[in-house]
Amino acid sequence: MIQHLLHINHVSKHFGGNVAVSDISFSVDEKQIFGLIGPNGAGKTTLFNCISGFYPVTSGDIIFDNKTINNLRPDEVCHMGMARTWQRVKPLGSLTVLENVMIGAFSITNATRDAEEIAIEQLRSVGLTDYAQKIAGSLSIGLKKKLELARVLATRPKMLLLDEICGGLNHTETETILDIIREVRNKGATIVFIEHDMKAVTAICDWIVVLNSGEKLAEGTPEEITGNPEVIAAYLGGGHNA
Ligand SMILES: Nc1ncnc2c1ncn2[C@@H]1O[C@H](COP(=O)(O)OP(=O)(O)OP(=O)(O)O)[C@@H](O)[C@H]1O
Ligand SMILES: [Mg+2]
Repeated sequence: MIQHLLHINHVSKHFGGNVAVSDISFSVDEKQIFGLIGPNGAGKTTLFNCISGFYPVTSGDIIFDNKTINNLRPDEVCHMGMARTWQRVKPLGSLTVLENVMIGAFSITNATRDAEEIAIEQLRSVGLTDYAQKIAGSLSIGLKKKLELARVLATRPKMLLLDEICGGLNHTETETILDIIREVRNKGATIVFIEHDMKAVTAICDWIVVLNSGEKLAEGTPEEITGNPEVIAAYLGGGHNA
């Protein structure tokens, strides 16, 4: 039976007079790959920050795994099985690739040996085994994005929030990341995916929500969204990678 894992229920987030997120509602089903798209400044990252406990919501409720999580801290949300990546990847640059992923693993174990085992397994799953002992800061952007993915996977999340994980990547690198995401979903995780590359979004997402100026403009299947005149006018027709 399909179950909702995440409910966004009339969520708003104001920064002073700036309404970044305005009365947004939607639900994400278990094992879905769910796309969150929209123009720059639409409120996508702000919504992620609210969901993952980095910003308190101004109003509304966020329900994850049948629990209201509005007032939880980021580490508490993470312990419930939700992990997020950052639009601007920020690995601990002076640590090795392996150590960065072990930090993710330490959210589910206190034992160094276990953390190392989990990290090695996740580095393998994203194809970074050969880079384990490299200093994270020395990696290319494409490899840093894979490292970011390995770090969140090491928390063994039920749900991953991916904020432009393919941003700045070439076609081949994007394809590799999409394959990893499909694999992660096939193993049982649920994914919410923010991305501007419409080819990537339509290739991978089961369901898409479009935000525009903080409001929900539309939701539907990739076919419905790419054929929606309002979405085309507000976003897809505007010179993006549609
Ligand atoms: N910490 C903050 N303080 C004040 N305003 C903020 C803050 N974070 C975001 N905003 C504002 O909220 C609005 C939405 O920004 P957000 O970063 O969520 O957009 P986005 O959809 O992720 O855009 P992009 O595609 O460019 O990443 C913008 O007007 C932004 O200036
Ligand atoms: Mg953003």
